[in-house]
Amino acid sequence: MQAESGTEHAWHAARVASSLRTSQRRCEPGYSRTGAGLACEDWGARPMKAGSPSRTAQAVAIRRAEHQLFDFPHVLDDPVALRIIGLRAAASIMLRLPASQFPVARYLRAFVAARSRYAEDRLATAVASGTAQYVVLGAGLDTFAYRNPYPAGSLRVFEVDHPDTQAWKRRRLAETGIEVPADVTFVPVDFEHQMLEVELERAGFGLGERAVFSWLGVTPYLTNDVVLATLALIHSFCPDNAIAFDYALPREGLSVPEKLAHDAIRATVVTAGEPFRCFFNADALIDELKNIGFRRVESLTTDEINARYFRNRLDGLRVRGRLGGLMCAE
Ligand SMILES: C[S@@+](CC[C@H](N)C(=O)[O-])C[C@H]1O[C@@H](n2cnc3c(N)ncnc32)[C@H](O)[C@@H]1O
Repeated sequence: MQAESGTEHAWHAARVASSLRTSQRRCEPGYSRTGAGLACEDWGARPMKAGSPSRTAQAVAIRRAEHQLFDFPHVLDDPVALRIIGLRAAASIMLRLPASQFPVARYLRAFVAARSRYAEDRLATAVASGTAQYVVLGAGLDTFAYRNPYPAGSLRVFEVDHPDTQAWKRRRLAETGIEVPADVTFVPVDFEHQMLEVELERAGFGLGERAVFSWLGVTPYLTNDVVLATLALIHSFCPDNAIAFDYALPREGLSVPEKLAHDAIRATVVTAGEPFRCFFNADALIDELKNIGFRRVESLTTDEINARYFRNRLDGLRVRGRLGGLMCAE
């Protein structure tokens, strides 16, 4: 696969830079826009705190660990999930056992497990047809790289994350004795202040070679402009790239129980210092992806996620409501 020309890359870089400047202005409290179903609302619309690792990354990793302990069969089989959160967090799961069975807790970990499984299923299809690069954007404590099932040397894994979160993860890996395979490269990037393509290329990523990207649990924390510019950038690297990601749906249009769950989740992430800042309607987002040039967009509804990953379970675990969506663009 050929890399796109330097001019095209420069154009995309300029678009990202301009988006970053305007997005910071647009997401000042009080700004609101509805174009692609976005609402940057006056609900703590600032990015994660500089100098500290992402607290939501730890929270999501705890959900994956809970899934390993409480839900059978596993939608996501992750033998590293408990190890990576550390002993104290693992112990606290057992202490909070009753709370882990509350409906919202079960919904959240079902969604977290399903979205990782979805990205890894998409990766499996691509690897079978020769893809040799996987980029985990906003990796948090994602464990794919440490349980990579493909033969050594066949798949390079690039973990991209905010520098503060990535430094913390690397300490966590060292403390818990999880070995970092030679195929893994860490790429510290702040999506709002750095050029993804520059940092990826510097890390040895083949910009013009086919890759699968995952971007799980990250888009709500960015601005609409940064999300769309990053999606365009990924497509510009190589037209055969695929990206699996999730996004938050706007509050308007939700049912009353969904609104209550939406508010509870938003209050939690505000407390964590990482407010949700952007929301998409599925149809508007699909249009944006098609305009970028992606040829095929798969958008899974809640029912489709349940049919694919939660069928015939005795424990009743499933995704509920319409708080978040799951897509793959390629
Ligand atoms: C909820 S966690 C999800 C982590 C991981 N994808 C998972 O599913 O476990 C959000 C992640 O987004 C990252 N993030 C948030 N804002 C970012 C930014 N501006 N640049 C890079 N990463 C960012 C955080 O560092 C964190 O790892």
